[in-house]
Amino acid sequence: MQATILAGLDRKEAEIYRRLDPARLPQHIAIIMDGNGRWAKRRHLPRVAGHRAGVASVRSTVETAARVKIPALTLYAFSEENWKKRPRSEVDFLMGLLCRYLKQEVPTLNKNNIRLEYIGRQHELPATVQAKMEWARQATAHNTGMVLTLALNYSARTELVDAFRAIAQAAARNGGLEHMQLDEDEVSRHLYTRHLPDPDLVIRTSGEMRLSNFLLWQLAYAEIHIIPTLWPEFRGVHLLEAIAEYQKRERRYGGLVDAPDHHLPKAARS
Ligand code: IPE
Ligand code: IPE
Ligand code: MG
Repeated sequence: MQATILAGLDRKEAEIYRRLDPARLPQHIAIIMDGNGRWAKRRHLPRVAGHRAGVASVRSTVETAARVKIPALTLYAFSEENWKKRPRSEVDFLMGLLCRYLKQEVPTLNKNNIRLEYIGRQHELPATVQAKMEWARQATAHNTGMVLTLALNYSARTELVDAFRAIAQAAARNGGLEHMQLDEDEVSRHLYTRHLPDPDLVIRTSGEMRLSNFLLWQLAYAEIHIIPTLWPEFRGVHLLEAIAEYQKRERRYGGLVDAPDHHLPKAARS
């Protein structure tokens, strides 16, 4: 298994992968793909050239994640705020780029056994884009490997509002909130991410130190990895570096050590 995985990686990737513990890979990685505009500006190119260049980064990241058997990868491609606050020409370009990406990548996604999903208010996107998204989703629905979720027209606050609205409607149908068991799991089941575990690791490129309305509920205990690399320069090797860094961290979840009771004598452990 390890030999097969190593054979699919390039030399630099293999060097890092060899040092990873395959039993402690993050089960879900989320990425805020940022810095396309700055990448283009540095080259005296229009902003959209950065978005175009970012497609190669998506391809490399997705393939490497699938090859090393990451179960779930979520990419923040387009926020609800991007849709509202950017010039129409840039938004139109991004929509076209998404459609071309989906058309081109479906065969590669199938080859790598990757299933495509989306989060965000899909119904607010142009009908042609929605149709292409649905086509790509169905064309990969049979795959059993990594789940690739694209956040498109996504806002974490909108997601929570939609969840609260659905919960309130269910409560009304069931004779009131007192007849429902409302706990954290129930909220999670109403989020767009109901098909996913919470991310263990969130990566943001371009050095910005913020979440920009991404997975606010789900990232409660995620490890945060921020790097100065601009998204068009990000590759699979950077993903593996982030995983290596993640494996050095000690996750506590509010407790004292990684395994909640590992400091106790064996007999006292639960
Ligand atoms: C990220 O790059 C891609 C999207 C938000 C669609 P930006 O377009 O935000 O690039 P910068 O942050 O301006 O460099
Ligand atoms: C976050 O990046 C959204 C995506 C990467 C899709 P932005 O560039 O939109 O975030 P802000 O505006 O810098 O917070
Ligand atoms: Mg940005």
